[in-house]
Amino acid sequence: MSQTYFASISPGLEDALVQELRELGARKVVPTRGGAEFESTYAKVYTILNGCRCATRIWLRVDNFKATNRRELFKKSARTDWARWLGPNHKLEIQARASRSRLIHTGIIQDTVTEAIASRVETNGEIPQLVMARIDDDRCTLSLDLSGDLLFKRGWKTNPVAAPIRETTAACLLRLIAPTTTVVDPTCGSGTFVIEAAHLALGIEPGRFRSFAMDTWSSPPDTLEFTDPTSTTRRFLGFDINPDAAEAATANAKAAEVPFCTFAQTDLFELSQIEAEPGLMIFNPPYGHRVGESDAPKRMFGHLRETFPDWSIACVVPAEVDLGLSDEACVTSFSNGGIDVKFWLSRNS
Ligand SMILES: C[S@@+](CC[C@H](N)C(=O)[O-])C[C@H]1O[C@@H](n2cnc3c(N)ncnc32)[C@H](O)[C@@H]1O
Repeated sequence: MSQTYFASISPGLEDALVQELRELGARKVVPTRGGAEFESTYAKVYTILNGCRCATRIWLRVDNFKATNRRELFKKSARTDWARWLGPNHKLEIQARASRSRLIHTGIIQDTVTEAIASRVETNGEIPQLVMARIDDDRCTLSLDLSGDLLFKRGWKTNPVAAPIRETTAACLLRLIAPTTTVVDPTCGSGTFVIEAAHLALGIEPGRFRSFAMDTWSSPPDTLEFTDPTSTTRRFLGFDINPDAAEAATANAKAAEVPFCTFAQTDLFELSQIEAEPGLMIFNPPYGHRVGESDAPKRMFGHLRETFPDWSIACVVPAEVDLGLSDEACVTSFSNGGIDVKFWLSRNS
């Protein structure tokens, strides 16, 4: 039997998510701002959860009903057989949101839904389980999180370096430009772009290195069968001025089972040749939080454009940075860690 699910994502990256969900076999995929709704069977959704590189979370839509007062919210929240998924080992965490509704106090919504679920199943354990109660225009949607930890936490970033881009964001950006060549990140930090690109090339599922909330449910889905990685002759390289970064990225690549990704300490401004066929450079340079605080992104982009005319260069920079490119070169705009950014692609000349 099919059920409805919701995959969330940063607004601006929905196209990548929709494309990916369809490829993974999701049905009736409907994009909305900040995510996409889709249908799937219980067994199939586990494969989607395990294979989805773009979503930040995936939710099961449990119920949707009108609720204008506390009593109605309790009664209708309690009509679901929550024991189908939850049990005594779980510890509930209810998130509430409300807009344009008579029930607007999120604390009251949280308490009421908690009591309603407690009337159906005992959950006094240790395993956190997120439930979302969202009331808009007096209609309540209850959703159950399949993910557990946010999905950007792949489980292989054993050595993070400061200000890493989220794996889910890197995966979306890579998907939007679909490289089939060498991939180089000249400010690689923890190696996120390079490792995500290598996983994409080899078909290594992002869920391979972690577990999910769904694994702990009363009727866990069938065990996943991971595909064998395919082989590739493509090269995946990263550079960073920080000596610790190359070391950390190398350790991350090993943990991510893509040890052929190579990293070295180099100042981007001293990068004058790369021993690989020209392909894609993709990076998120360091940038300040205030406008005009740093012109590093523009100088870095300019240096790479001039030194490597045969390469395509993609980069994420604050929205106000002018790289001198035409509007068509802007692939998408989104918010990265609370900063409005644009993702630019300058194709090789
Ligand atoms: C925003 S972080 C990039 C994070 C990276 N994408 C990741 O996921 O970890 C910017 C990186 O640029 C590096 N960096 C700063 N100036 C550099 C330069 N001149 N050459 C190379 N790397 C530089 C910093 O050391 C830092 O790791």
